[in-house]
Amino acid sequence: MNRDAPLVLGIETSCDETGIGIVRGRELLANVIASSMDEHARYGGVVPEVAARAHLEALRPALTEAVATAGITLDELDAVAVTSGPGLCGALMVGVGAAKALALSLNKPLYAVNHLVGHVGADVLGEEGPLEYPTIALLVSGGHTSLLLVRDLTSDVELLGETIDDAAGEAFDKVARILGLPYPGGPHIDRVAADGDPKAIRFPRGLTLPKDMEKHRYDFSFSGLKTAVARWVEVRRDAGEEIPIADVAASFREAVIDVLTSKAIAACKDYGVPRLLLGGGVVANARLREVAQQRATSAGVELRIPAFSLCTDNGAMIAALASELIMEGAEPSSLNFGADSTLPVTDIHVH
Ligand code: KG4
Ligand code: ZN
Repeated sequence: MNRDAPLVLGIETSCDETGIGIVRGRELLANVIASSMDEHARYGGVVPEVAARAHLEALRPALTEAVATAGITLDELDAVAVTSGPGLCGALMVGVGAAKALALSLNKPLYAVNHLVGHVGADVLGEEGPLEYPTIALLVSGGHTSLLLVRDLTSDVELLGETIDDAAGEAFDKVARILGLPYPGGPHIDRVAADGDPKAIRFPRGLTLPKDMEKHRYDFSFSGLKTAVARWVEVRRDAGEEIPIADVAASFREAVIDVLTSKAIAACKDYGVPRLLLGGGVVANARLREVAQQRATSAGVELRIPAFSLCTDNGAMIAALASELIMEGAEPSSLNFGADSTLPVTDIHVH
């Protein structure tokens, strides 16, 4: 196996994106993403069974397209990589099954890796040169909201905190529904908020009161915020008043972003880490990027945001993480691992 710049194909199916990525060392060759988001729209959130079935249908075409884009053949691969968790169990199982079948039939080593650490791994594919460690990573998507301390991408990642209820993207989706906006809610809230006043309504900032900060310094909670928005809207609707949707959207978005960025910067300061990496689909939010940049700059923190196609769930980040592991000399996984919906972030590589 080429351990200097391994050719790795990564499979990602932890949520609603079927991702097939191909990298050579730290060079991105292909990043094909098929999303089943449209199929979940009428339910207002990802339906696990629907996602799993969609992966089954999307995997082969995505694989064929990725191989063609990369201009390689499957037998040139040095290794196959796959997300083994965390994520939706049924969805993960499709990817894990496919990866095992592919690795076995090609007689290639297989690397099972952690999805959250994969989001951090996406950074190595950027053009800014390798990320220095340690770094704090804030991962915000429809499925997760996690704050990590990454001392070393391949060997030392610590979970500082995570959401205790809804994920940040999920909160966007639920509040969009309250406001009568389509799914996925994030982009629609963002669009509507552009004309609103972020200071119009002071919505609660979850887990930021002194008593919460003692126990949940780096944890997040968005469920109370969602309820506060629902209440606020309900009271006005019942009174027959018109709802100032733009102001509600802008004030809600500001509350989410305020908490996300203040906790991430606090982690940088507390641990003396002058680097912050963002990942996950909510990074599409321009206001999040703007506030993160402002706060990072004033705290003397370097902010890194991978290209958007590498921020949402994708297979390239999985291939990239496996490639780093291979370059570090890590041994392949056995075929005994399975999908693990609650895989801890400390399990970067599953043996
Ligand atoms: O990483 P991602 O594509 O995949 C899943 O988690 O499945 O993230 C999707 C999430 C959705 O909840 C969506 O509402 C949110 O990211 N999102 C946004 C924006 N664009 C997408 N949230 C806030 N602002 C946006 N512009
Ligand atoms: Zn993700």
